[in-house]
Amino acid sequence: MLLKKFIALAVAAVFLTFAPVQVSAELAEDTIAADFAVDTVKFIDSLPVAKGKYKSRQRPILIQGAMNSEIGILVRALKNPVVYRHLNYVYIAGTYKDYPVVISRTEEVIPNAAASTALALTNFNPVAVINQGTSGGYLDTLEIGDIVIGSRIVNTSAIKLVYQPAGAGIDITQQEMLGAYAYDKNLGKFRDYKEFAADPTLLKMAESIRGFDSTIGVIGTTNGWNSNIDYINFLHERYGAICEEMETFSVAQICHGSGVPFIGIRTISNNITNGATYTPGAAVSSQTFVLILAENYIRDVLKKSR
Ligand code: 5AD
Repeated sequence: MLLKKFIALAVAAVFLTFAPVQVSAELAEDTIAADFAVDTVKFIDSLPVAKGKYKSRQRPILIQGAMNSEIGILVRALKNPVVYRHLNYVYIAGTYKDYPVVISRTEEVIPNAAASTALALTNFNPVAVINQGTSGGYLDTLEIGDIVIGSRIVNTSAIKLVYQPAGAGIDITQQEMLGAYAYDKNLGKFRDYKEFAADPTLLKMAESIRGFDSTIGVIGTTNGWNSNIDYINFLHERYGAICEEMETFSVAQICHGSGVPFIGIRTISNNITNGATYTPGAAVSSQTFVLILAENYIRDVLKKSR
């Protein structure tokens, strides 16, 4: 409850600081989140458009969110923001804590996240990629606004259903993990991967952040939205997934192929295993968390290695 109030207040505070609109902290957080997302589009549209290619002496950190509600806090945290568009994807480049940072709106679901990441790698040459946003909880202990730090990422929709003859019924637990056909930089060719791991340095730094209810575990990326609790429990037992969302695995795959350090951070915005309904305002939590992660990474890793 306290966290819900914190989220609503945090969104309202940012809203009040940056927009000349009166917002009451008592407004339902979903309404605030929806208004905030609309306002974020207007905010991005009001920013200067970059002239020419991105140039930076230091390689930027790339921070991604799929939806406006998942990047609103991040874009407002940048100093001197300018907008780039590659194909249909938007990127806002600026500085944070005096270090170059690019915020990317990947759009929702696997193909968009993969395409926008590949374009980001070629156009911005990031030193590290942080994918963040909302997710559905697989453990009934996970509450709205809690943080999942992804130590590993699996794609729970990249499966092969085993042969079952006509009339045998539908049992999708009879499955094998296919995973991804991804580029292996060391071998110099594409090969099968069942999962991707977080960059150890980013993982360690995320683990050391206090002040959040955070859990380290497996993020399950999927093409769909799963509301079947038995199947959720199966995915948890089989693959260790503690939450599901629709982008992280594809971002990990593209980063892995280019040797770019990567981590996925998700907040819980819904949890069918404990009845928590979809609360988009939870997106504030993961954005707040990754701003701290970026600050620590800039201070303790990037500025020290210069
Ligand atoms: N299942 C799948 N995706 C979810 N998301 C939040 N909760 C879930 C869930 N239970 C995220 C996805 C996508 C959007 C629908 O929200 O990553 O971007």
